Amino acid sequence: MHMMFPKDFIWGAATSAYQIEGAAQEDGRGLSIWDVFCRKPGAVWQGKSGDIACDHYHCWREDISLMKGLGLQAYRFSIAWPRVLPQGKGPVNKKGLDFYDRLVDGLLAAGITPYVTLFHWDYPQALHELGGWLNRDSSDWFAGYAEVVVSRLSDRVQNWLTLNEPQIFVGFGYQDGTHAPGERLELPQVLQIAHNVLLAHGKAVQTIRGRARVKPCIGYALSVNPVAVPATDSTADIRAARRAFFTNTKQVWTNNSWWTDPVVFGRYPEDGCRLLAKDLSPVSGDDMKIISQPLDFLGLNVYFGELYRSGADGAPGKIPFASGHERTSFDWPVVPESLYWAAKFYAERYALPVIIAENGMSSRDSVESANKVHDPQRINFLHRYLRELKRACSDGIDVRGYFLWSLMDNFEWAAGYRERFGIVYVDYPTQQRILKDSALWYREVITSNGATI
Ligand code: FCB
Repeated sequence: MHMMFPKDFIWGAATSAYQIEGAAQEDGRGLSIWDVFCRKPGAVWQGKSGDIACDHYHCWREDISLMKGLGLQAYRFSIAWPRVLPQGKGPVNKKGLDFYDRLVDGLLAAGITPYVTLFHWDYPQALHELGGWLNRDSSDWFAGYAEVVVSRLSDRVQNWLTLNEPQIFVGFGYQDGTHAPGERLELPQVLQIAHNVLLAHGKAVQTIRGRARVKPCIGYALSVNPVAVPATDSTADIRAARRAFFTNTKQVWTNNSWWTDPVVFGRYPEDGCRLLAKDLSPVSGDDMKIISQPLDFLGLNVYFGELYRSGADGAPGKIPFASGHERTSFDWPVVPESLYWAAKFYAERYALPVIIAENGMSSRDSVESANKVHDPQRINFLHRYLRELKRACSDGIDVRGYFLWSLMDNFEWAAGYRERFGIVYVDYPTQQRILKDSALWYREVITSNGATI
């Protein structure tokens, strides 16, 4: 069969506020937990922070011109909650909100559709000091913030994502302590946080639906890594991989169904309830109803996978990679089929349209002569991953769009500036942007609607 992307497929790129904006002390922005975490000795590679990052807060016009030049149809960015509400709730910082207003206008003028993520990890420090996500009021705080943003931008913004990768900011932030706020809580508290986060998602969906001036299209972005990929196309291996993919563990960041079943089906998955029974608090009142507000799409952030084969009893068995299996500079294994199977398994289980909300790779890029950045390894990576996405579309899986992570090199959380994920190179000391070869390659992909893949 001739493989194709749908005609109205959306080609975009993604970033997030703390990773690119900088201007951390400007125009009344409040502190986020990442500002504080970055100052803890040893928390971030080389002790760096997002204080300046890509200085996008000042360079946004130039950045929009770059996007336009690349032919991007859509841009996924996040709003910094403490820039809009310095204390997390209460008085609105007009200057902070104005920034996003200008950004949205600039994008629309350039013909680029904004996809707004409300929360991409930069939690207000002031709310953290009130107990943060562990406080049951946290979902109302989030809904209040959503209301401020939606009231201002929803006459022009139609596409919204509530949370980015809840399993990562909860799992890394509160269970293994490697991300802000760097806590290592006991399982009952982690599960309580997870529940409050899901509740916040549900209340934000209600707020967006209730307040938006243009009919909204609402999703939620999940980290699905590692994707469980069947080692062969046999029915038994596919079944085994699916089972591995949706099985829950005590490490909340590896759980897929725990974070999505409540949102779509209004209940926690049974295997997880059994495993976590003694650590779970009873769910109160209408919580599950609030959590499971109708959604328009699921956003999947896909980076890597692992291979599964069915054991004699049908149980999934993980297969080690062959010696020398390729890896990105982050040491993430390159498994292009992850994109196919993540889209397929999610679309089948949840019967919702899927958007790939992030996909890309980090490498040790460098500037060569004549301001060129040659990154054939990234082109190779993207080509093979996108071929798998094309296969998914051709198989009839409802994939609506693809957002490359990332538009530009940026602050990669605990890895600081070590990992370069951009298709645009950023020379941090001068803030010069240089299109990498992969950016020019991606432009062709977009222009041809993926025919070059
Ligand atoms: C995802 C995050 C994103 C970026 C990429 C590499 O987990 O959502 O901010 O760090 O990984």
